[in-house]
Amino acid sequence: MKKAYIVGTGHSVPEKILTNKDLESMVDTSDEWIITRTGIKERHVSTPGEASSDFALEACRSAMEAAGWAPGDVDCVLVGTITPDYPCPATACILASRLGLENVPAYDFAAGCSGFLYGLIQAKAFIESGFFERILVVGVEMLTKITNWTDRNTCVLFGDGAGAAAVSSTGPGGELGGWHWGADGSLGDLLLMRAGGSRMPASEESVRQNLHTIYMEGREVFRYAVRAMRDSCLKALEKDGTPKSEVDLLISHQANTRIIDATARALELRPEQVFVNIHKYGNTSAASIPIALDEAVREGLVVPPKNIVLAAFGAGLTWAGILIKWRE
Ligand code: ACO
Repeated sequence: MKKAYIVGTGHSVPEKILTNKDLESMVDTSDEWIITRTGIKERHVSTPGEASSDFALEACRSAMEAAGWAPGDVDCVLVGTITPDYPCPATACILASRLGLENVPAYDFAAGCSGFLYGLIQAKAFIESGFFERILVVGVEMLTKITNWTDRNTCVLFGDGAGAAAVSSTGPGGELGGWHWGADGSLGDLLLMRAGGSRMPASEESVRQNLHTIYMEGREVFRYAVRAMRDSCLKALEKDGTPKSEVDLLISHQANTRIIDATARALELRPEQVFVNIHKYGNTSAASIPIALDEAVREGLVVPPKNIVLAAFGAGLTWAGILIKWRE
C-alpha cells in the first residue's frame, strides 16, 4: 500500500509583536494573569493590509524549498483556515495562483484549530488511495482580524501566522501513521463568530455589536479540549499499533500550557518530550501545529528515528490526532 510522508515544512508570521504589557493598556488584564493562566507572553499580529495568503505563501515557499519541489510538482493545495482572505473565493485558490501552480485543485476547509491535522488526514487519504502524489497542506490564521479587542476573555489569547507541510508519496520523511478525528456540532455555540455568514449577514448593527468577532466560553472549551486531545492521541496510537511508551515528542495545538501539560501527562511524557512555543505566538489556531512542527524540525528536534504525536482541538467543536513516524 502507498504511504504518505511529510518531506518539507515551513512557517511565516507577521513582524509586528504585541506583548502582554501592551494588552495591559488595552483591557483590564495583567502580564501575570496571562502567563499563569495560558503560558502566553507575546503574539505576532498582522497589520491592516496583511492577509492570510501573504503568510501562507511564505510558509509554502519554505516547505517546497525544504522538499526540493518546483511549482509544477504540486498536485493539490489544502488550506485549513477560519480567517480566509475573503469569504469567497477560497484562499487556497489565491495561494495556488501566487505560488505559480497551474490548474491544480485547491480548496479551504474550516475546522478551527484542528485545521492543519484535518488537512494532513485528507492528504494521507488522497496519497494512499493514489489520487495525488504531492500535496501542500497549510494551516493559516489571522485571528486578530476577528478578535474583539474589548473582551479580555479572548483578546489576550490569539495571534497570527501560517505553517505548511509538503506531503509526498515518496519518502524518506515523516510517515503519516495512525490517526483519529472527529467533530461535535452540538457544542458549536461554545466557540463561534455569530455574524458574517448566511444566518446573520453583515449589517451596521452586527458590526456595532462586535458580532464579527470570536465569542468563546473558555472554561467549557477548556474542559472538552483536555478530554478530546487526550483521546485523539491515544486513539491515533492505538490505530497505529504503537504504544505510548514509544512516543518521542508531542507537538500539540498551542492554546494553553495547562491543556498541553494535561495531554503530555496522558501520554506519560517528560517535559523535554513536549514542544511548546505558545509563549512566542499565542493561539494561532490552524497555524499553531505547523508553525511548531517547522520550528521543531529547524531546531534539530526531529532527527530520525522519531515518533511524533500531533494533537489538536478547536471550533466546531473539532478534534484530531495523528502519529508521524520520522525515519531516514
Ligand atoms: N485577565 C484577567 N482576568 C481575566 C482575563 C484576563 N485576560 N480573562 C478572564 N479573566 C477572569 C475571568 O473574568 C474570571 O474572573 P471571575 O472568577 O471573577 O469570574 C477569572 O479570570 C477566571 O476565568 P476563567 O474563564 O475561569 O479562566 P480560565 O482559567 O478558564 O482561563 C482560558 C481562561 C485561558 C480562556 C481557558 O479557559 C482556555 O484556555 N480555554 C480553552 C481555549 C481553547 O482551547 N480554545 C480552542 C481553540 S480556539 C479556536 O478554535 C479559534
